[in-house]
Amino acid sequence: MNSNRCRAAILISGSGSNLQAFIDQVAGQQLELDIVQVISNRLDAFGLTRASKAGIATHCLLHDQFADRESFDRALARELDDARPDLLILAGFMRILSPWFVAHYNGRILNIHPALLPAYPGLNTHQRVLDAGEQWHGSTVHFVTEQLDGGPGVLQGRLLVAADEAAADLARRVQAVEHQIYPATAAMFASGRLEYRAGAAWLDGERLQQPVVRDF
Ligand code: GAR
Repeated sequence: MNSNRCRAAILISGSGSNLQAFIDQVAGQQLELDIVQVISNRLDAFGLTRASKAGIATHCLLHDQFADRESFDRALARELDDARPDLLILAGFMRILSPWFVAHYNGRILNIHPALLPAYPGLNTHQRVLDAGEQWHGSTVHFVTEQLDGGPGVLQGRLLVAADEAAADLARRVQAVEHQIYPATAAMFASGRLEYRAGAAWLDGERLQQPVVRDF
């Protein structure tokens, strides 16, 4: 590990295909950061296997063993802080974070959400987009604030919904987009081009009024 590089911890709950994209891009030297730790709140998260195979330290912290949200978050932070992360990457981490946790890592948490925020916060986005007959769908990387799926957006990957597309196919296409836009956003943060300040995302010293949009 290079001592000057950004230290990223990745939080997961499931398959970890986004985690895999980070692992692959770091290994291929397309992404300059170190993944110092992977934490899951589920024992059966396949992402834990992906991380172990890549030689990354893993930890599992089961939320149902804690009395409330904040005590889980405090235990999570104790575990994370041992790894001294500069950046937390939420990659399919299906937990709402407490205000305490968000403040503890103020401006250093990124999330990816499978929709063109502010449209379609919450769950089951692909089916909801199809049901509404939307033309466009995609995914958004944003800084995490206390507001669920509401922090300032940085980068959006957008694609056209195909006629009669099934939700599973749409989900697959959106995930392929995520595997590009999420490491790309982390690279901006790791190189110092991207920061969170005064409640906004700043890229190359300019306040982003809305996320940068890339069409796929
Ligand atoms: C991703 O598609 C991500 O956008 C979504 O979970 C999936 C995790 O996939 N996140 C959310 O829905 C958060 N609200 P992965 O485990 O294969 O990376």
